[in-house]
Amino acid sequence: MSMERICVVVCGVLLLMSTASVGWEQKHDYKLALSKSLLFFEGQRSGQLPSWQRMTWRKNSALRDGQEGGVDLTEGYYDAGDNVKYSFPMAFTATLLAWSIIEFGDGMAMGDEWINAAETLKWNTDFLLKATANLPNTVYAMVGNPYSDHNCWERPEDMDTPRPVYAVNTTHPGSEVAGEIAAALAAASIVFKIADPAYSWRLLSKAKEAYYFANTYQGSYSDSIGDAVCPFYCDFSGYQDELAWAGAWLNKATDSQKYQKHVDAAIRKIKLMQEVTDYSSIDTEFSWDNKHAGIYVLLSQIGQYKKEAQTFACGVLPESPTRTIQYTPGGLLFKTEGCNNQAVGSLSLLALIYAKHVRLARQRITCGNTKFPAWKLVEFAKNQADYILGTNPMGMSYMVGFGPKFPQHVHHRASSLPSIDVHPSFIPCTDGFSYLDNPNPNLNELTGAIIGGPNNGTDYFDDDRRRAALTEPTTYVNAPFVGVFAYFINHKK
Ligand SMILES: *[C@@H]1O[C@H](CO)[C@@H](O)[C@H](O)[C@H]1NC(C)=O
Ligand SMILES: *[C@@H]1O[C@H](CO)[C@@H](O)[C@H](O)[C@H]1NC(C)=O
Repeated sequence: MSMERICVVVCGVLLLMSTASVGWEQKHDYKLALSKSLLFFEGQRSGQLPSWQRMTWRKNSALRDGQEGGVDLTEGYYDAGDNVKYSFPMAFTATLLAWSIIEFGDGMAMGDEWINAAETLKWNTDFLLKATANLPNTVYAMVGNPYSDHNCWERPEDMDTPRPVYAVNTTHPGSEVAGEIAAALAAASIVFKIADPAYSWRLLSKAKEAYYFANTYQGSYSDSIGDAVCPFYCDFSGYQDELAWAGAWLNKATDSQKYQKHVDAAIRKIKLMQEVTDYSSIDTEFSWDNKHAGIYVLLSQIGQYKKEAQTFACGVLPESPTRTIQYTPGGLLFKTEGCNNQAVGSLSLLALIYAKHVRLARQRITCGNTKFPAWKLVEFAKNQADYILGTNPMGMSYMVGFGPKFPQHVHHRASSLPSIDVHPSFIPCTDGFSYLDNPNPNLNELTGAIIGGPNNGTDYFDDDRRRAALTEPTTYVNAPFVGVFAYFINHKK
């Protein structure tokens, strides 16, 4: 993509930018946090690295990915601290990055990070285009064998484990993976609409094709490819959420209602399931698996499913009488034992997007008998962001390389092993485990990585590389924070 074309957008956005409101103190340098949160993705890059790679301790890797299936599946991102590439969470990462740019790109332009954010997204969508190159019949769901990969502690650059290619097709469908890819490509088409119209058009037409495949051949990849994705990225929540989510994004990207009946049908099925399973927390779920709260917040922007979107807000707001989310004594949202920061980031992003809508509509949020102004949601998101950046009982930032105290034992193969620059010779599979188990800090700083977070519902944190639930970073934890930090660059409230 050409820089000149992107500048047209950035400069346009700068002119449109509204003046920030006054009020709360800027506790942290959100520009720096945004900049670092994007840098992290360079540490996750697979394939031939571009000339503008800034995280230089990482080198080319997995240059033959796809070969086993006779296709090109190089590049894209490793999902977390291992070296497997999974299309389902990668696509969700792309959708969140795109949504962050769509809603809060003005804050990125202010910090000159719009281009970095767009490049971060494009490295992802370029891979998703490869994963869907053989539609209408096939979508590639992953590259790598998670069992042999996890049995090694190996640098991506040294990888010698098998790289099988797993696909879904018309007889072995995967509506969640194809649906999330459709959502990601549709959302990204909005981001690139002005900066690169030809690329935007490619993304949108592929999004439509992926949606047709997902919706026509319904089934879960958990059944079709089984233990390759389960238990790692097993689709626990079913695929109706991805069908609704993708349809809603396609409506937004095409500025039409063409997908509305599919969206409504999928939501009807979700609600039936909700009744049967008494799954009451569904309205505050937003993760690589479960898109429910995101669907309602997205649709509420066009005046649909407003009650459900409000249920999300009321489930999250700390003072809400109908709150369902728990908080630690120090104020961090607590949802799960492992990788809790995923919920912290994704629900904070949703809160900011929903607050923007409520404010534009000049409404308030009604929770039981209590009404809240939109800024209460902004306050919630700010408290979460500030906690992550260091305002917490441990006095540490959960973003690597941010602030004076941050995690040193990140559960990440490339970051913990020596770089090729200092140790050019091959380190075989099991030899690497001495780097997992030793108490020394990681050798390479995975700058900007936001890790799993404090111990199970407490404000205490064990900086222990062997505890992946606490110290592993992932692309879909960082992605929503990109939007959150961008928001706080030029909004105080
Ligand atoms: C469809 O996918 C399944 C599972 O990946 C595979 O076993 C099967 O051979 C594929 N069918 C075709 C026609 O490619
Ligand atoms: C984590 O916290 C939850 C909720 O407080 C509790 O149910 C669960 O048993 C805890 N798990 C561990 C491993 O401590």
